Amino acid sequence: MLVKRSIFASCPLDAFCPFIIVLLAAAYIHVPATAIVAVPSSHCYTFDSDSHLVDFTHLAGKNFEYNEEGSVTSDLVVQLCKDVQRRSQAGGFIDFGRFTNHRSFETGSKLVDYIQRFHNGDLAKCETTFEEMGRTAQVNIMCGRCSNKVCKDEHGCICRVSYDERMCRTVVELAIPCPKRGPRVFKGFTVGFHPRSSEVVYNGLTQLGFEQLHHGFSFPSEQIHVSLYLSAMSSLADLVGKPTIRVNPMKGLDVMLTGSGANGAVPTALSPTVLNVNWICEIIRSNPYVVNVSIPVVGYDPIEFTLTKECGWFYSDNHQLCI
Ligand SMILES: *[C@@H]1O[C@H](CO)[C@@H](O)[C@H](O)[C@H]1NC(C)=O
Repeated sequence: MLVKRSIFASCPLDAFCPFIIVLLAAAYIHVPATAIVAVPSSHCYTFDSDSHLVDFTHLAGKNFEYNEEGSVTSDLVVQLCKDVQRRSQAGGFIDFGRFTNHRSFETGSKLVDYIQRFHNGDLAKCETTFEEMGRTAQVNIMCGRCSNKVCKDEHGCICRVSYDERMCRTVVELAIPCPKRGPRVFKGFTVGFHPRSSEVVYNGLTQLGFEQLHHGFSFPSEQIHVSLYLSAMSSLADLVGKPTIRVNPMKGLDVMLTGSGANGAVPTALSPTVLNVNWICEIIRSNPYVVNVSIPVVGYDPIEFTLTKECGWFYSDNHQLCI
């Protein structure tokens, strides 16, 4: 702020000043952000073919309708990341399945960008479906417009609908403006408090509670260390580097990393590495310390998560006041 003001004040020609301010603003915006790659707030996300996160959360539940003309008029309705239904005056509602989690949201191939699968729709007249799973739907998502020009809605629409002969499965072509791809996620990587758990990082995504400061998730004053277990897919494990930490405020909490994970040992799914975070409170504070752990991964956005540590007064078992 001070820098901007002094440049502004010493600006020789009034006409240059807005130009300089624009340059300063642009430089500020382009500072690379080291944002934590947090798990999206809904199941409505997937990855592109290059492992970048594509978050459709803002479109979750959005309705897309398609009027089918024929002997009986009906509407096919896709609620993105929710369900697929066919509604008609004569036949009522037919449920073509529900979307259960992000694993049903896949990367497509050449013509189709993403695929959403819906399962466990109505069973009636489809009792012989595979494992009696009921009606199912597959929604092929194309980023952009319909190729057959049936629809001009810029928010997207259904281009085509087809059914198998017994009406137990439908394939829907949906064209929508897709979100921009996000960070490149190191899939398969986990961080947890036990060798087989992943409370902190699951599938390369930082879990809620560890993506920023959370009082409810903080480690108490009396706890002097925490062990974290890191695991990765064996084929990619040697891309993982040595973790680093940043503490805010910088003074008052002494943090030291030990264990195989701190030395840059390669974590695999079968033999996770352990990262011991040892912390000593040196200055008591009413607000907790924020400890950001960053694990670099060659070619991917780093794995980052936040541990929240309290350093207050506490009573020990023998009722003495301790730090
Ligand atoms: C820790 O990470 C959070 C979330 O990305 C960020 O807002 C904060 O500035 C980071 N703190 C430090 C000390 O790096």
